[in-house]
Amino acid sequence: MAAVARLLAELSLAAVVLASEGAARCPALCRCEMRPWFSPSSVYAEAATVDCNDAGLSALPERLPSGTQVLLLQTNNIGHVDALDHLANVTEIDLSQNNISSVSDVRLGSLARLLSLHMEENWIQELTDSCLPSLPNLQEFYINHNLIFSINPAAFRGLSRLLRLHLNSNRLTSINSRWFEHLPNLEILMLGENPVIELSDMNFKPLANLRSLVLAKMNLTEMPDDALDGLENLESISFFDNLLSRVPRAALTKVQNLKFLDLNKNPIERIQRGDFMDMMHLKELGINSMPELVSIDSFALNNLPELTKIEATTNPRLSYIHPRAFHNLPRLETLMLNSNALSALHRGTVESLPNLREVSLHSNPIRCDCVIRWVNMNRTAVRFMEPDSLFCAEPPEYQGQHVRQVHFREMTEICLPLISPSSLPNRVQVSEGRSVSLHCRAFGEPEPEIFWVTPSGDRVLPGSVSDKYYMHPEGTFDLYDATEQEAGSYTCVAHNLVGADLKSVTVSVDRYVARRSNQPLQVYVTSVQSHSFKVSWDRAGGLVSRLNWSILAPGSSLLMPLTARLPADVKEYHVKRLRASTCYRVCVEVSAAPPGYSMDCVDVTTKEAATPRGKTKNWDGLVMASCAVFFIVVAVASGWGGWGVGGSVVDQPGFSTLDATFRAWPFVTATELKYDPLEEVSRSASSLFPRCDPESPHGGGGGGGHTP
Ligand SMILES: *[C@@H]1O[C@H](CO)[C@@H](O)[C@H](O)[C@H]1NC(C)=O
Ligand SMILES: *[C@@H]1O[C@H](CO)[C@@H](O)[C@H](O)[C@H]1NC(C)=O
Ligand SMILES: *[C@@H]1O[C@H](CO)[C@@H](O)[C@H](O)[C@H]1NC(C)=O
Ligand SMILES: *[C@@H]1O[C@H](CO)[C@@H](O)[C@H](O)[C@H]1NC(C)=O
Ligand SMILES: *[C@@H]1O[C@H](CO)[C@@H](O)[C@H](O)[C@H]1NC(C)=O
Repeated sequence: MAAVARLLAELSLAAVVLASEGAARCPALCRCEMRPWFSPSSVYAEAATVDCNDAGLSALPERLPSGTQVLLLQTNNIGHVDALDHLANVTEIDLSQNNISSVSDVRLGSLARLLSLHMEENWIQELTDSCLPSLPNLQEFYINHNLIFSINPAAFRGLSRLLRLHLNSNRLTSINSRWFEHLPNLEILMLGENPVIELSDMNFKPLANLRSLVLAKMNLTEMPDDALDGLENLESISFFDNLLSRVPRAALTKVQNLKFLDLNKNPIERIQRGDFMDMMHLKELGINSMPELVSIDSFALNNLPELTKIEATTNPRLSYIHPRAFHNLPRLETLMLNSNALSALHRGTVESLPNLREVSLHSNPIRCDCVIRWVNMNRTAVRFMEPDSLFCAEPPEYQGQHVRQVHFREMTEICLPLISPSSLPNRVQVSEGRSVSLHCRAFGEPEPEIFWVTPSGDRVLPGSVSDKYYMHPEGTFDLYDATEQEAGSYTCVAHNLVGADLKSVTVSVDRYVARRSNQPLQVYVTSVQSHSFKVSWDRAGGLVSRLNWSILAPGSSLLMPLTARLPADVKEYHVKRLRASTCYRVCVEVSAAPPGYSMDCVDVTTKEAATPRGKTKNWDGLVMASCAVFFIVVAVASGWGGWGVGGSVVDQPGFSTLDATFRAWPFVTATELKYDPLEEVSRSASSLFPRCDPESPHGGGGGGGHTP
């Protein structure tokens, strides 16, 4: 207490002394007093301060106290400064927000003790050679927010003690490594907000002591592999708000001492395998506010022994983090994932992080079922930040509930894949000759597999490659060198043993949207049994095929038609559980991406019923057949309109036993087609492809007649 009082007394005494001593000399409109002052290396001192800020000065005051240590001239209209040599002890001069248009108009003279010089927010356009000739101890130079478009190679000659240089917000279009040859001790360099067209290799080579580099808001689209060469001591780098479309991973391998990496606000679409790998000192990574980021792929972050914090927040499309996205991150404590488009966080992701303490997952559209189930099993020691903002967005019965309040036993253990609507837009435009990536990711339990169907109906499996496309194992479909041929609708199918989800994206090339081909659809009957038949059709293209069948006989019109919805690459269907010796009409409609469709119907009569023994055998064969083809079937009742959000169900043996697990999931209205093989009406006709009743207006024959 006494010590503090004494200190205060001394301070006020010092102020009085300075005031009285300098009273005669303190310039009009200024205040002269002792003030706390921090050196560039943050050492605290008391400094004799002359504060002429915002005093309407158009020139320096006539006489300044010779003991001045800090001279504040901010926000005036000063254009010229003449020799200040008599201020032998001055350590800081602030000339920011004045009317200086050339550094040569600021003749400071020889100021051996000057450490800090502020000239930001003036009208300076150029820095000529040795622009600050006699400031051998200068440590900080702020010349940001000027109009500098040109810096001579030796502009900073004589500033060998400089630690901090702020050049941001100027008009530089290139960075010259020769500037830095005169700044061997520089630790902090701010270059942001300069319209630099591109950086080049070795751009910063002489800056072996640089610790922090800020390259924010420069519209950088890429970093050359050797751009960061020589920055052996760099600890922090910011690429905030640039146009990087991928992680500059090769460039980053050159800065082995990096601890803090800020890639926020760049249009990166995927964090890919190996993007952040073997960075032995990285502590914190920021990948926030990325408008295009969809996915963090498997092994995206690998072997980062010191990493303690990942921030990946406010990414409006980030809907998928691979269960094995993070590998060998032994120290990771904090995982910030709030405000993304994540429907889940896989248990595997969290279990792969041995030191994880806290996760923020709130403000995501969480789907409260299988994938997130582990969160409520109380087996994890991880703390969820802001749990009050962690809500279920789906399924509907839990919508709006706190995730932590849904008992895990109420969540299903297995569930349908669901393709995130934010990962894949409905339409994508691409210029002729350019490439485009279509990202499809889905959470489900078991982990879904993904394939794509092209507009021509080809099924593209993970790892498939052609001269026009490549499908990444993670689910991304890359389309190269687009021409009108490639325009059309691409459908992603994600499936696991429970079911499947599909979503289509229309790719237009130079605004050309594929038209439906005029080739008419033809439906053929390929085999007929007593309780089933197979049809196939030949039309390529289209988004989806819809198939329906009903009994054609008069009087049977009350029977509901049955409908199946199939992905575009399925061109054959096995219609089962039919009545024997009955005439059916089956119609196939293929809808294409620009509204339009083509349709064809065929009539077919099932065979006479076989003997019971034969029947059993027949059913076995049927089950085998349906295993072989991947069918997606949606029941009659499910609205046709909801394509894209709609879920579907694999038609496979044993499937109907899983019905119960779907509960009220809205798009899973699918059921096995519950169409009882009704009482068998035997009739005489037993040719291979029996005709329909000749009385029928649409009667056909020989494998089914095409209706007009
Ligand atoms: C400059 O500071 C030194 C001690 O730091 C002091 O002895 C000297 O008088 C000061 N010079 C002026 C002009 O005040
Ligand atoms: C600022 O300086 C320029 C010359 O460099 C002069 O023409 C202009 O009048 C000055 N502006 C003001 C507001 O004094
Ligand atoms: C970056 O591009 C935007 C849009 O073209 C432009 O407004 C901005 O001035 C540019 N910034 C720089 C530093 O070049
Ligand atoms: C998990 O723990 C919380 C609080 O510790 C408790 O309220 C909740 O009922 C537990 N849930 C289960 C499924 O045990
Ligand atoms: C079957 O589908 C076709 C084409 O979509 C449609 O025109 C027809 O009315 C449908 N038949 C029945 C019985 O619903």
